[in-house]
Amino acid sequence: MTRAWAQRAASIEPFLAMEVAERAFALERAGADVIHLELGEPDFEAPREAVEACAAALLAGDTHYTDSRGLLELREAVAREKSARAGVRIDPARVLVTSGTSPAMLLVFGLLVEPGAEVLIPTPHYPCYPNFVRFCGGVPVLVPTHAANGFQIDVDAVRRAITPRTAALIFGSPANPTGAVQRAETLAALAQLGVPLVSDEIYDGLVFDGGSAPSALAASEDVFVLDGFSKRYAMTGFRLGFAIVPSAALRPLQVMQQNLFISCNHFVQRAGVAALAHGEPTRRAMLEAYTRRRERLIDGLRSIGFEIPVPPAGAFYVFADARRFGTDSRALAFDLLERAHVAATPGVDFGAAGEGFLRFSLSAPDAQIETALERLAKALAAPA
Ligand SMILES: Cc1ncc(COP(=O)(O)O)c(C=O)c1O
Repeated sequence: MTRAWAQRAASIEPFLAMEVAERAFALERAGADVIHLELGEPDFEAPREAVEACAAALLAGDTHYTDSRGLLELREAVAREKSARAGVRIDPARVLVTSGTSPAMLLVFGLLVEPGAEVLIPTPHYPCYPNFVRFCGGVPVLVPTHAANGFQIDVDAVRRAITPRTAALIFGSPANPTGAVQRAETLAALAQLGVPLVSDEIYDGLVFDGGSAPSALAASEDVFVLDGFSKRYAMTGFRLGFAIVPSAALRPLQVMQQNLFISCNHFVQRAGVAALAHGEPTRRAMLEAYTRRRERLIDGLRSIGFEIPVPPAGAFYVFADARRFGTDSRALAFDLLERAHVAATPGVDFGAAGEGFLRFSLSAPDAQIETALERLAKALAAPA
């Protein structure tokens, strides 16, 4: 029987990083040795204390629903940690704990986006932003950023894109895929535009060269910050994140969470409390490794013929201009996967502005990065 699925489902586009990964897994099942540089997944283990707290919580019977907003202890710990990072005092009553940053994004767009409403997205962008917007019945409006300007958000371009239907502006800082970190002045200017800001700060704490990423929380109380444990503490599979929102928004988000998710996993929230207390060495060790790998990968890719117009200031990706090897990034990524067994993400996953680029993740051991560079050099020197 052929059914017409809801338009909402048809409006979602495949996540190409996952499509590449899934083809890579199939090659591995057939015996290939694939180097994974396509996923935004730290190759580090979660903090030991978080794993132990999670196991202990399971054994102690922390296997029930919790307050839909999250355990008070975790909300308080999140507010304390984020206050220290952002340099402003955050009331735990503004924190909603979710099963990853992704559900927080869904709930926040569920709150802000009426059918037909427009959401501004500086591009190149995290692939899922427009899909979340469409899922909620909204219309993504892409606002270009440029390598020449370090992929900084152009406040005037955002201002020009605002219409009476604009419901929000979403951006990441540090950003995936460009690694751009927005300046405090940019965030302050964006906060003045009269459009709700949704600031995805999931890569907060992962900034190179001793830098830090200013939080939108310091620019205004009237912002929606998305953040989580996946990247900063290498806890992708725990599925733990949070939103920090204007006080008046907490209650409607809580009601949506009650209905859509009930609460985040009880024992995982215990892991979150432990990660906040003991996870700093994990964050530091990752940042040290990413710093080393960033230098090596940039040098290696440049010597093969890629251009890196803007080395990343944060996050853990190198966004490389691959136009010398072909303008169809999807075809190029799949070709390199098949011939060199190196998995990278096609730039077009991040919007048309990313076409011609490949995104390489820094989350593979140093030795694998060396091998990947050798394989890429060989494959790109030989005709396809
Ligand atoms: C910018 C950005 N936001 C959100 C997410 C989703 O994170 P989570 O694992 O917390 O759902 C990712 C994951 O790659 C990301 O890169």
